[in-house]
Amino acid sequence: PEQGCLSIVVLGASGDLAKKKTFPALFNLYRQGFLQPSEVHIFGYARTKISDDDLRDRIRRHLVHGKEASSSHSEDVEKFLQLIKYVSGSYDDEGGFRLLDKEISEHEVAKNSQEGSSRRLFYLALPPSVYPSVCKMIRYHCMNRSDLGGWTRVVVEKPFGKDLSSAEELSLQLGELFNEKQIYRIDHYLGKELVQNLLVLRFANRLFLPLWNRDNIDNIQIVFREDFGTEGRGGYFDEYGIIRDIIQNHLLQVLCLVAMEKPVSLKPEYIRDEKVKVLKSVLPVEDDEVVLGQYEGYRDDPTVADNSNTPTFATVILRIHNERWEGVPFILKAGKALNSRKAEVRVQFKDVPGDIFKSKKLGRNELVIRLQPSEAMYTKLTVKKPGLEMSTIQSEMDLSYGMRYQGVTIPEAYERLILDTIRGDQQHFVRRDELKVAWEIFTPLLHRIDDGKLKPLPYKPGSRGPVEADELLAKAGYVQTHGY
Ligand code: BG6
Repeated sequence: PEQGCLSIVVLGASGDLAKKKTFPALFNLYRQGFLQPSEVHIFGYARTKISDDDLRDRIRRHLVHGKEASSSHSEDVEKFLQLIKYVSGSYDDEGGFRLLDKEISEHEVAKNSQEGSSRRLFYLALPPSVYPSVCKMIRYHCMNRSDLGGWTRVVVEKPFGKDLSSAEELSLQLGELFNEKQIYRIDHYLGKELVQNLLVLRFANRLFLPLWNRDNIDNIQIVFREDFGTEGRGGYFDEYGIIRDIIQNHLLQVLCLVAMEKPVSLKPEYIRDEKVKVLKSVLPVEDDEVVLGQYEGYRDDPTVADNSNTPTFATVILRIHNERWEGVPFILKAGKALNSRKAEVRVQFKDVPGDIFKSKKLGRNELVIRLQPSEAMYTKLTVKKPGLEMSTIQSEMDLSYGMRYQGVTIPEAYERLILDTIRGDQQHFVRRDELKVAWEIFTPLLHRIDDGKLKPLPYKPGSRGPVEADELLAKAGYVQTHGY
């Protein structure tokens, strides 16, 4: 492990992302001993003029949860909060960043009396519009200058642009300031336990290896549902919509891991090479393989345009033009304000040829990987109905993590990804060329929606979304399972 002082700077420290995700993730890492007070200092940076204690008060609320409020937990919270210092300044002001650099350097001098190297991690919990100016400020005023090694790394999160050209523009701007090894583009789905399990499931199990192709798989669904609407984020959401918010990034990343070829080894670059390859094989999206929806009441939000054409629901079929997947629809579906909150991958196998049990009507084999809630993997199987008769029913082989791994706490995605950043492991981060191909896939479709050529269908909040989406699913070959 790398030695030396570690400074973590959270920019946008008083914003929502920082309070709800970044600081709680840092706290969890601290509790597990990954952030040692002898070497770590955390800086919050934002425009608001507040004191260290004001910031600590704002963060504290998000660290103390009802059931965990044991005295040892509260003690840890207080110790953790003491590691945080606040610096206020604007995002394009040299003065603020010089001050930040001074604070970091003082901390480095104090902690690094012997070992030497210094590590600086900048976490941009900020809207992307300020990425270029903030990155410039970091590059010119806050880089690690230790002669004894160390590094400077910058963590950024989507939206990386709105389409191919704006994303490329942003990549270019950041690329002039930092090299690819210094930029960590977070897609928090890559930090989820069952997303990380996908490569293990596929490449460490002989059971699935020979089946994972067009000869055996009929269709694959990657689904994200939320049972709440845009909730105070209407302004942001209306500009982006569900495809940019969920499908082009989170679901497409999952698709990569489900569909890519086996990497040469687990080296991050080899894995990311395979992801890029499979993305390059995705064909342009056809309009008749898209269903868009917008929930009723969405436009009542005062921050949403009255005539908004923004989809809050979308089902999009992607086709991968390669030897393994030709003819297998990848159905990506995401929606807000639906009937449940769930994210899962459904791999549906083809019917058994020459079926002697006449069990076809029961449904097909299906492997379901539930990313959340309640992580699980289960396989739908046809079995003999227990009893004297020879009849068949649909049943399941079930690996529910809550049951099988009782007592194991599954880490939060952000926790894992921040630790990866500290360790310098870029496997679970999006590479620049990967981002570019992801935009190439969706940009033409997004432009057709932005131009009003494709319109979302209304659906009732709390429903399954537009019925047309179910019809598209059936057309793509998905067979609903019955009778269990
Ligand atoms: C974010 C989206 O990236 O992911 C949100 O911007 C969405 O709209 C969230 O609610 C979902 O994340 P999770 O981890 O709760 O599935």
